[in-house]
Amino acid sequence: MKTAIVTGAARGIGLATAKLFASEGWQVAMIDRDGPELARAVPEVATGFGIDCDISQPDQVAAMVAGVLDRTGRIDALVNNAGVADFGPIEETDFARWRAVMATNLDGTFLVSQACIPALKERGGAIVNIASISGLRGSTLRVAYGTSKAAVIQLTRQQAAELGEYGIRANCVAPGPVRTKLAMAVHSPEIIAAYHDAIPLNRYGTEEELANAIVFLAGDRASYISGQVLAVDGGFETTGVGLPALRGQKAGRDG
Ligand SMILES: NC(=O)c1ccc[n+]([C@@H]2O[C@H](COP(=O)([O-])OP(=O)(O)OC[C@H]3O[C@@H](n4cnc5c(N)ncnc54)[C@H](O)[C@@H]3O)[C@@H](O)[C@H]2O)c1
Repeated sequence: MKTAIVTGAARGIGLATAKLFASEGWQVAMIDRDGPELARAVPEVATGFGIDCDISQPDQVAAMVAGVLDRTGRIDALVNNAGVADFGPIEETDFARWRAVMATNLDGTFLVSQACIPALKERGGAIVNIASISGLRGSTLRVAYGTSKAAVIQLTRQQAAELGEYGIRANCVAPGPVRTKLAMAVHSPEIIAAYHDAIPLNRYGTEEELANAIVFLAGDRASYISGQVLAVDGGFETTGVGLPALRGQKAGRDG
């Protein structure tokens, strides 16, 4: 049975991705550092099994990958989805906050990928890294988060360039705002309205819409796609000038 590793699989986009893999006949190693939440999530995924692991810790990553291989004997796809968001002004982002974001988003993505390479080589497997539109565009309060996600995009290109000769593909999904429980809990009505204004499709994405893109890039239907960044963002990235006030106007002479 094909095996996928999904990090940050206890909830949100990672859990939706694990469910979609399972529905397409994959076995899913669900990785998370939140043990209790992971224990609740695993029974929701028919072919899923859980391993507690903090992906920012090299020794834990090595043990986790060995544990997956003991159980399955193969890794066909790796989805580096675990991420932390800590938003704040540049001057208030002290080194500890900066490091905490980099440790998971960048170091963790590097470490898990590296540990999976020998197994991925055997299968001509695929890596899908999860970045963010915050890694494609500058934005407020995201000095650590946005920089970490831009680095994940470049890491993807490095992986594609170096690992292609082993038949390993690497791609990146850059989500726009997603309607996760967490986002809905912390986004005020004003923030939600502002996002709707900025997004051509006028709404947040769903966890399932992200999972569709991720599972596509991980599987055989994407067999000649590597090194790409796919923004799954309702058109957000495309709009440099998408002023809500100009919407619906038929013609104009300005700008
Ligand atoms: N939700 C959004 O709107 C959005 C937008 C753009 C990008 N993203 C990215 O998508 C990914 C998933 O986002 P989400 O909203 O589903 O997140 P989430 O916070 O709901 O879930 C993330 C999971 O990752 C786990 N995790 C965090 N650090 C970890 C570590 N060091 N080791 C192991 N597990 C760890 C958490 O315990 C959690 O279960 C993240 O990389 C995030 O940056 C999300």
